[in-house]
Amino acid sequence: MKKNKISKNWINKQKRDIFVRRSKIEGYRSRAVYKLQEIDEKFKILKNGISLVDLGSAPGSWSQYVAKKVKSGKILSIDLNEFDQISNIHQLIGDFTNTLQKTKIKNYFGKKVDVVLSDMAVNTTGNKNVDAIQTGELCMEAMNFSKEILKSEGKFVSKIFMGSTFNEIVSEAKKMFKESKVFKPLASRKDSKESFIICKFLR
Ligand SMILES: C[S@@+](CC[C@H](N)C(=O)[O-])C[C@H]1O[C@@H](n2cnc3c(N)ncnc32)[C@H](O)[C@@H]1O
Repeated sequence: MKKNKISKNWINKQKRDIFVRRSKIEGYRSRAVYKLQEIDEKFKILKNGISLVDLGSAPGSWSQYVAKKVKSGKILSIDLNEFDQISNIHQLIGDFTNTLQKTKIKNYFGKKVDVVLSDMAVNTTGNKNVDAIQTGELCMEAMNFSKEILKSEGKFVSKIFMGSTFNEIVSEAKKMFKESKVFKPLASRKDSKESFIICKFLR
């Protein structure tokens, strides 16, 4: 399929999508917010006063949701791309996989945190297997970082793609956390390989 035909299909899909329409009405920057909302309602991730890291946060709908739900908390969001500021969120722009950025995150909190969220994904290549591998690597990196920065009763939520890295990630999660579940929210498109892994309580 030609590139402009793909983008026309994408635009038409967006126009029909109820989550896109709802996000515009409710003032969220992306339909992705409804994935986090459903995860939060089902797995009880957010509450007042927590400290939280949002990895891969641009354009910022997850952080907008967190800012609304978490009163008197300490929240840091990081993305490769710049995005508009959100009040009560400390923003970092840079590559999370870089040691310098990880040190900045740790220094900002100065102690262990309650929640790590990761919606990180690489720019899609058009090859779903390659996309799944690269996004899987980001998920593994986020999970390993969680081991360093989470409190023992902490929670880790990450995007995960069905593909060659899926089983490895799920088995690492089982080793690292006492509880782990894979869940696909309604807002996650049926034709996408995306799911989420929700983990609680470090071993
Ligand atoms: C699906 S979007 C996130 C959407 C976001 N959760 C929201 O609700 O607006 C994925 C993001 O991951 C970011 N990303 C990918 N690799 C990254 C990395 N190594 N460090 C930081 N951000 C990264 C991308 O720049 C992109 O903005």
